[in-house]
Amino acid sequence: MNQFGGNWTEEKMDIVVKYASAYLTIMYKQNWVKTIYFDGFAGSGFIESEGIDHLKKGTALRILDISEPKPFDIYYFVELNEEHATALKANLSTHPLRQNIHIRQEDCNTKLVALAEFLKENKNYRALVFIDPYGMSVNWGSIESLKGLGVDLWILVPTGIGVNRMLINDGRISDSWMQKLESFLGYSKEEIMKHFYKSTIRQTLFGEEINIQKEKDAVILAGELYTRKLKQVFSDVSKSFVMRNSQNSIMYHFMMAANNKTAIKIANEVIEPKYKL
Ligand SMILES: C[S@@+](CC[C@H](N)C(=O)[O-])C[C@H]1O[C@@H](n2cnc3c(N)ncnc32)[C@H](O)[C@@H]1O
Repeated sequence: MNQFGGNWTEEKMDIVVKYASAYLTIMYKQNWVKTIYFDGFAGSGFIESEGIDHLKKGTALRILDISEPKPFDIYYFVELNEEHATALKANLSTHPLRQNIHIRQEDCNTKLVALAEFLKENKNYRALVFIDPYGMSVNWGSIESLKGLGVDLWILVPTGIGVNRMLINDGRISDSWMQKLESFLGYSKEEIMKHFYKSTIRQTLFGEEINIQKEKDAVILAGELYTRKLKQVFSDVSKSFVMRNSQNSIMYHFMMAANNKTAIKIANEVIEPKYKL
C-alpha cells in the first residue's frame, strides 16, 4: 500500500485523470491511432489516506475507470517494489480490461527506453506517460530517449524534496550527490553551479577569497531549469502545478510536456484552477 502524501496527492491524480479523459476524447476521433497509458511508478493500486475512508484508489485504478469515449488500447504499469507490483497484479487480476493490462516489476528507466524503442517501430501508437516518483529516480537520459515520439508526458519533479536538498548552501556538494544531480537534471557540474550559485570575489590581505552562495529561490530555479530542459526534447511544456507541504515549502513541480500545442493548452486548463504559484 502506498502512503497518502497530502491533499496535493488527490489533486495530482485529478489532473492526470482529467487530462487522460480529454486525451482519449481527441484520440477517439483519430481511429487509426492506438493508445498506450504508461505509468512508470504505478504503486499498488491503492493509497492510504488519513481520513475515514482510509483507502483510496490510486491513479492506475482511476485511469482504468475511464471508459468514455473509449479506454486505452494498452495499459503498461511499471513498479519496482515487489510487494507493490504483486498487490497491483492481485488488484487487477479480475479487471474487465485485464487482457490489455501489462504489469512489470522493473526500474522505470529501463522501461521508458523500451517504450521509446516500441514507439519508433510502431508509428501508429501514441503514449500518455505518467511519471510519479517519490524522489530523483528518473535519469535525464530516459526522458531524452522520448525525443520526437508521440508522447505526452506528465512528470512529477522533486524540486524541493530532491534537488534543493542536495544543493548545499556553501556549494560543497559531495561527488556522489553531484553525480546524482547531473544524471537527474542532465546538466554538467559547471552548469549546475552556475545556475544555482553565485560567487563573489573579495580581496583580502592574503589574496582573493571566493565566496560561493546558493541562490535564495533555488527550488523555483529548479522548476524553471527542468522545464527548460524538457523543451529540448518536447516542443512545449505546460505551466507547473506546484505542490507545497504544510509549512508552505515547495516539494514538487508537476508538469506536462508534449509535441502538440493543443495538448499543452489542455494541460494548462486542467492545472489552472489548482494553480498555486
Ligand atoms: C508515489 S508512488 C506511486 C503512486 C501511484 N502513481 C498512484 O498514484 O497510486 C511511487 C511508487 O514508485 C515505486 N518505485 C520507486 N522507484 C521506482 C523505480 N525506479 N521504478 C519503478 N517504480 C519505482 C515505489 O515502490 C512506489 O510504489
